[in-house]
Amino acid sequence: MTGAAGFIGSRLVETLLSLGHEVVGLDCFSAYYEPQVKRVNISASLGHPRFSMVTGDLATIALDSLLDGVDMVFHLAGQPGVRSSWGSGFATYVQHNLVATQCLLESLTRRPVPMVVASSSSVYGDNGGGPLAEDSPLRPVSPYGMTKAAAEQLADVYRRDRGVPVVSLRYFTVFGPRQRPDMAFQRFVDALERGRALRIFGTGQQSRDFTYVDDAVNATIAALGAPSPVYNVGGGTPASVNEAVALLQQLTGKKGQVVHEEYARGDVYHTHADTSRLRRELGWRPRTNLADGLTAQIAEYRRQRDLVESANR
Ligand code: NAD
Ligand code: UGA
Repeated sequence: MTGAAGFIGSRLVETLLSLGHEVVGLDCFSAYYEPQVKRVNISASLGHPRFSMVTGDLATIALDSLLDGVDMVFHLAGQPGVRSSWGSGFATYVQHNLVATQCLLESLTRRPVPMVVASSSSVYGDNGGGPLAEDSPLRPVSPYGMTKAAAEQLADVYRRDRGVPVVSLRYFTVFGPRQRPDMAFQRFVDALERGRALRIFGTGQQSRDFTYVDDAVNATIAALGAPSPVYNVGGGTPASVNEAVALLQQLTGKKGQVVHEEYARGDVYHTHADTSRLRRELGWRPRTNLADGLTAQIAEYRRQRDLVESANR
């Protein structure tokens, strides 16, 4: 399991352990956001007798020996974030999203166990209002989206030509407890709780098919060895950023001050997943709606904040 200390990866580790699996987690604790946050993400699993954590980079670690004895791979490591993929940061996106994935795929040609790879709704770009099915054209509008589309294509090359049983999942904006600190909801909750301004990029009318983290995790486990090369994973009820902010204000009981800033370059306007392939082939259904998921996210934010405050006392 790669990206084990990340937002989605750390939740996947916990779920796999609860299902009785033995899990080896790999993470390089990249500097995309504060590595200490990742240490907290994975801390609850570290003492588990069926979990071992390896710190290392996919591009340089000895993968053949790491994969020895492994019978399934979940590849969630990557450089996330749409807005920071412009400019000089692009090389890091190529390295963590493409080169690292190629290293793993190459190693799996010698040990062809099933693998699930984290792709992204950002491969579609601004493709109309949706809902979009998997065979829609890919027109990414950010360098990040381009690296995820390229990684999917690479996975498909190894699937078709080298027999690696790999499946890519296009996650649509995942939210819930431990969401990355650069993502909208975590930033909004933080601003509301600290009495700081919420910064909305553009009008706030842009919408996302927000997906609760446990729904994404369940799809990831269900996709192991699945028949199709790619599946959409979307929560099913898109909401605009303005609607989500109103819900967060209601759930936190705090209004905050909302400021609108310039539209963020590379931002897709609307995302909406057609998830019929995932439902039909793998029997997956999203279970958690936006309000319930945000309630859980706020509770975890407050729990972490209280832990830090009591440790500092
Ligand atoms: P995250 O940054 O919290 O987790 C990714 C983890 O991968 C990090 O802990 C990082 O240190 C690790 N990592 C990066 N490069 C590595 C490398 N070369 N070797 C080892 N470890 C490495 O991100 P997340 O939000 O949990 O996303 C997980 C995956 O899902 C990413 O590939 C991301 O692009 C994709 N994705 C996320 C979302 C979302 O809404 N969060 C949506 C679509 C796709
Ligand atoms: C998210 C993830 O960050 C990507 O890793 C992932 O690949 C992508 O989803 C996906 O679905 O493929 P994004 O949709 O930009 O990307 O997620 P958020 O950071 O939660 O942003 C959602 C919306 O809120 C965007 O329109 C963004 O511009 C806006 N936003 C974000 C603000 O208005 N203010 C902020 O402070 C942050």
